[in-house]
Amino acid sequence: MLEDRTEQPHIVTCTAPVNIAVIKYWGKRNEDLILPINSSLSVTLHQDQLKTTTTVATSRSFQEDRIWLNGKEEDITHPRLQSCLREIRRLARKRRNDGDSGVDSASLSHKVHICSVNNFPTAAGLASSAAGFACLVYSLARVFGVEGELSGIARQGSGSACRSMYGGFVQWIMGNKEDGKDSLAQQVEPETHWPELRILVLVASTERKPVGSTSGMQTSVKTSCLLKHRAESVVPGRMVEMTEAIRKKDFTAFAELTMKDSNQFHATCLDTYPPIFYLNHVSQQIISLVHRYNKHCGETRVAYTFDAGPNAVIFTSQQHVPEFVHVVQHFFPPETNGADFIKGLPVNCASLSEELKQGIGLEPMPKGINYIISTKAGPGPHVVEDPTQHLLSSDGFPKKMM
Ligand code: DP6
Repeated sequence: MLEDRTEQPHIVTCTAPVNIAVIKYWGKRNEDLILPINSSLSVTLHQDQLKTTTTVATSRSFQEDRIWLNGKEEDITHPRLQSCLREIRRLARKRRNDGDSGVDSASLSHKVHICSVNNFPTAAGLASSAAGFACLVYSLARVFGVEGELSGIARQGSGSACRSMYGGFVQWIMGNKEDGKDSLAQQVEPETHWPELRILVLVASTERKPVGSTSGMQTSVKTSCLLKHRAESVVPGRMVEMTEAIRKKDFTAFAELTMKDSNQFHATCLDTYPPIFYLNHVSQQIISLVHRYNKHCGETRVAYTFDAGPNAVIFTSQQHVPEFVHVVQHFFPPETNGADFIKGLPVNCASLSEELKQGIGLEPMPKGINYIISTKAGPGPHVVEDPTQHLLSSDGFPKKMM
């Protein structure tokens, strides 16, 4: 029995979500362990719209660890990949030595093959490293039979990845230990907590690749005094207020904190020397549109947040989605007739009054937004039970995709 098991690759496939921070992580106190200088909080996006799928296989016959990302073999010696692999194997060994029967002892000495794909185009500029590393760590843990706290390992792949290890509303507590053992993600509320909350990803048309988060935050830590002030005097209070706003489902408080924190993150980027610009003229127009729309409505119905790129992520309530989507479509007329403009959760039709259009009073900006992905909060990583979904075939090599 055992002989057969070790000859055949042991294959596991998992999926993991993207998350969007509403209190931003920006700056590390330890580059190697990826320890942040402030806590952060995010919403996990639903995997029906955005996810990474990863298959991991172990076999006695594999010669070396290998990885294929979106159809192309990549360098497995990348230090962050190595950190995740090393930490999972270390944890598995420790558990086996502690007598945990779930750990697959045979696999421990075997090499792994890893194959990973996103269900969204990398060119869309959506942060894929969080979902990617969360999925890698979750899948490796499953293949080696390791359970329990894994966010501390995902964090060592990419900081924001630790928050993708849970569904719903998730905080990453910065911790203060030197070894990072207390720098972990924790669920604040599950994805079922706020069912009317909706998320719209406005994918901006862009030609240039912006400065990456890793190097951007390094320069900010070295040069921005706003970053220091933010970490010490602003974020601690905002974490408490944000958790409370989410707990009470207080959209106004949630929205205002989200927008202010996004703005302060981008102000920190501008305070970096030389400055970093992630927002472009389309992003600025979206910011104006949101504020004008809220003002016209006489209440805060919509909030924006932007990460290290020009795409806007919009939070709103289900009841306001049709009107706001049509407002976006009016002020950013798409190239085509709009058939493919809205992806994801279906959006009902709405008509816009002249009064609303005039009340907003912006000049339309054609083709500024490529498309919108309509989604909501969703669950954390999970195992895919159906073996036909494996990305590696029974020989442990990537399946040929047609
Ligand atoms: C602006 O997690 O991508 O999206 O830890 O260096 O991999 P590394 O950085 P990363 O940074 C994310 C920055 C952000 C804000 C956030 O997600 O909190």
